[in-house]
Order: sequence, then structure tokens, then C-alpha cells
Amino acid sequence: MENSELSPMEQQVAEQIMKGMESPSFQPPIFPAVAQEALQISKDPDLDLQTVATIIEKDSALAARFLSVGNSSLYRRGAPATSVKASLARMGLIAARDLLVFAAVEKSFFTSKQLGPAMKKLRNHTLAVSAGCAYLAQYKRINADDASLAGLVHDLGASAVFKFVTDKATQFKDLLANETSLNNVVAHLHCKAGAKIAARWELPEPVLKVIADHHAGGNDPLLVLVAAADELSAMCQMGASFDKVQKGALADFLGGADPEIVTDAFMMRLADIDAM
Ligand SMILES: [Fe+2]
Ligand SMILES: [Fe+2]
Repeated sequence: MENSELSPMEQQVAEQIMKGMESPSFQPPIFPAVAQEALQISKDPDLDLQTVATIIEKDSALAARFLSVGNSSLYRRGAPATSVKASLARMGLIAARDLLVFAAVEKSFFTSKQLGPAMKKLRNHTLAVSAGCAYLAQYKRINADDASLAGLVHDLGASAVFKFVTDKATQFKDLLANETSLNNVVAHLHCKAGAKIAARWELPEPVLKVIADHHAGGNDPLLVLVAAADELSAMCQMGASFDKVQKGALADFLGGADPEIVTDAFMMRLADIDAM
């Protein structure tokens, strides 16, 4: 998004926010240790489902969540999965890894007293783009282990900006009172803010690039995939209110296939997204 798309007031606030986020006193969101550990799952060639299931079962809330996701419309196949291991078998280790990462960051990234509905929308958008990345990668038979992780964190900067302005609600009260301006400012800043934060985390390099450049376009395979999944999620009414999707990204990605048919098939998988 170009600066010219911001009003002078929005431009001024955007500069204040970025300055605040660049100041030494700014405490960026922490990538929890458990999320960091979860990322190691895919790097261990000897890891099997039972080992991961045993780790998950130690936390009963997490175990319940894996059961419900394993039985959600995204993964449901035939008879219900009645164990964490059976859920994992449906999801696969990579999706399980990404659900662990999501569970670890969800509370700090996607809940806000003041911006409850906006954060909920961002949460569901994030899950939809993540599932969309995995779906599209599978559809085109691309081997992209970081696909759903990239989807999960692509708009990380948006939650950071939302959090920054609500933490300083008095200073940003005018912005918080104007939803359109807030969305414009978040649209403008979220890639830059996200890149700054992600640089402090040890995310894979292609994922960092997605956070920084997912609205700028480019030929990097993961960028192209996330842009397509962003448009796919918007077509399924799971867009983020601040995101300006790249129109045509999905059709370009699919080559010859009809985006509407792919969208209809994917939409059914999102039925339970609120409960995931
Ligand atoms: Fe975005
Ligand atoms: Fe997005």
C-alpha cells in the first residue's frame, strides 16, 4: 500500500506507531518457547506420531483441541478420531506442528479486550490462509513444508500493530474510534512491523520473506502461494479487513483450473473454523 492511500492524519499516526515500534523501549511480542520447540518437530527425522501424541496428551486442553481439530471439517474422514494419535494421523506432523505453534501464540496474538471482533476476524483469517496454503500446495502437488506456517504468521504484524495501539489507547484514541482509519494504518504498516518482529524470532528465511513482502508481489514460491491463499480466503469470506489482496493471484497460481471450483471445495473445509 502506498503512502498516498493514507490521509495526512493516518500518515502521521502511522509514523508515530512505527517510531514507537522502532524505539529501544519497545517490547516486541515473544515467540513462546513451546512454539519454538514445536518448530523443531519437523526437523527431527526420527519423530513419529506416538511421540508427538504423548507430548500433547500431557496437556489436557491441548489434547482436547487436537481431537476437535482432527474431527473438524478440515480433516474429518469417515468415523470420528477418538484419540490424539488418530487425529494426528489425519492432520500429519506438519499440520500438527503448526497447530502447536498457533495454540502457543493464540492468546497473546489474537485476543484483545478492546478490539475483540477485529482480533477474532484476524484469527480466523490467519487459520483460513494457513489451511489455504496447505490446500493449494497439495492441490498443485508442491512440496512446501513451511506453507501452512507461512500462512499462520503472514499477518503477524497486524496483530502487533493492533496490540501496540490498544496498549496506548489514550494516545491513539482517535484512531481506535475510526475503524476505517485503523484498518488503513494496519494495512500500511503490517508487513514492515511484522518483519521487524519476526527478525527477532528464528523463523525459516522464506517465511520471514513472506511476512515482509506478501503484498508486494514477487516470484518466490512461498510468496506466490500466500498471495493466492490470501485471495482464496477473501473469496471464502475469510479475508482480513485491512488486507488488500492481489486480485488474480489465485487464478495465476492455479494456472488452468477454475478458481471458483477450487474455492467452493475449500470453503466446505472452513465450516468449523470458529471452534478450531
Ligand atoms: Fe497482509
Ligand atoms: Fe492476510
